[in-house]
Amino acid sequence: MAYTQRMATDLAANPFKKDFPLLVANPQLAFLDSAATAQRPTCVLDAQRDFYASMNSNPLRGLYRLSVEATEAVAQARRKVARFIGAPNVNEIVFTRNASESLNILASQLGDMLLKPGDEVCISIMEHHSNLIPWQQVCRRTGANLVYLRPGEDCKISPEEVAEKIGASTKIVSITQVSNVLGVENDIAGIAARAHEVGALCLVDGAQSAPHIRVDVQKLGCDAFAFSGHKLFAPMGVGVLWARGDLLEQMPPFLTGGEMIEWVTETEAGWSPIPEKFEAGTQDAAGIVGLGAAIDYIERIGHEVLEQRERALVAECTRKLADLPFIRLIGPANPRDHVAVVSFNVCSVHPHDVASILDGADVAIRAGHHCAQPLLAWMGISSCCRASLALYNDSSDIDRLVNGLQQVWELFNG
Ligand code: ALA
Repeated sequence: MAYTQRMATDLAANPFKKDFPLLVANPQLAFLDSAATAQRPTCVLDAQRDFYASMNSNPLRGLYRLSVEATEAVAQARRKVARFIGAPNVNEIVFTRNASESLNILASQLGDMLLKPGDEVCISIMEHHSNLIPWQQVCRRTGANLVYLRPGEDCKISPEEVAEKIGASTKIVSITQVSNVLGVENDIAGIAARAHEVGALCLVDGAQSAPHIRVDVQKLGCDAFAFSGHKLFAPMGVGVLWARGDLLEQMPPFLTGGEMIEWVTETEAGWSPIPEKFEAGTQDAAGIVGLGAAIDYIERIGHEVLEQRERALVAECTRKLADLPFIRLIGPANPRDHVAVVSFNVCSVHPHDVASILDGADVAIRAGHHCAQPLLAWMGISSCCRASLALYNDSSDIDRLVNGLQQVWELFNG
């Protein structure tokens, strides 16, 4: 099937929903929580099942046919991931459990290797806890200081803020490409350029960007990039760490044990080449194959169609929520500055009440601190509601959200 621009812009029609069995089985559901985890298309579920049904064996652990097939299936998925994010070398793709694990590897291994007392690690106030707590921990261990980039009124981190906060003491900058609360996209290329100017590394949390915008790590100019499969239509439990080959070579392994060694004696061990050095133990091979299938799915649709549809959904959602006088929108004023996320609060109603009343109307949103407590504290709120969109949403989902919010308001003010 050829995916056209009309499929992207016609939000009344939905040629994508049929690909997602959970959505087909629940036609009444408006699923607006894809930033927490996306639904999976049939092709991904099939790929995962086929792995177990037709080639289940331990990749890298045998020279018999099945094991060779399983090994090749994982290698093929690795090639797809490398191409998907523009990595220069397939061996720089490390499979992990999720973006959190990828970021923990970076913080712990690079942090311990590079940081000394008085050095600075620069992150932003809009980090998900996954790209914040690991740095708090490593700073505590090494005596380095954690410095925060803060956005202006427009929710964007200005070049002046970048120039002021990233300086001679900065050794590592680690920043999200897209905020899971504000939806805003940070200027990674500009931040990476400044980091390199002062001799620091630039690491990127791509958990909320890789599912929605085309990523090219070479164009971004970053040194490492982390993302999860499950927000990108792939199974839960598979994540990716890309880092420059020379960094991966220098970093000590995070987990040790099976399949990551060249040799072992009673007292020592020598590591396998990258990426195996970072992939101790049996990987979720079926999940990795599922990630490859998810990338195929996105590439069949094409980034242009995917991005255009999600932009149209955000614009419609923002416009309709802005028409409700009791809604306070959170994030950039211009809907074009939101990547797939629209956060809001209902005046004087707790977000958890909003979410549970919406649930009664079959509308699924996330409410709470969104694993970004420092950002919410900085904004002077303790929680908010978030509708997050994906290409399988349509106008009817947004209308159900709007009707549900009207019910919430009437219930509390009727
Ligand atoms: N990180 C995910 C979110 O923002 C779970 O919802």
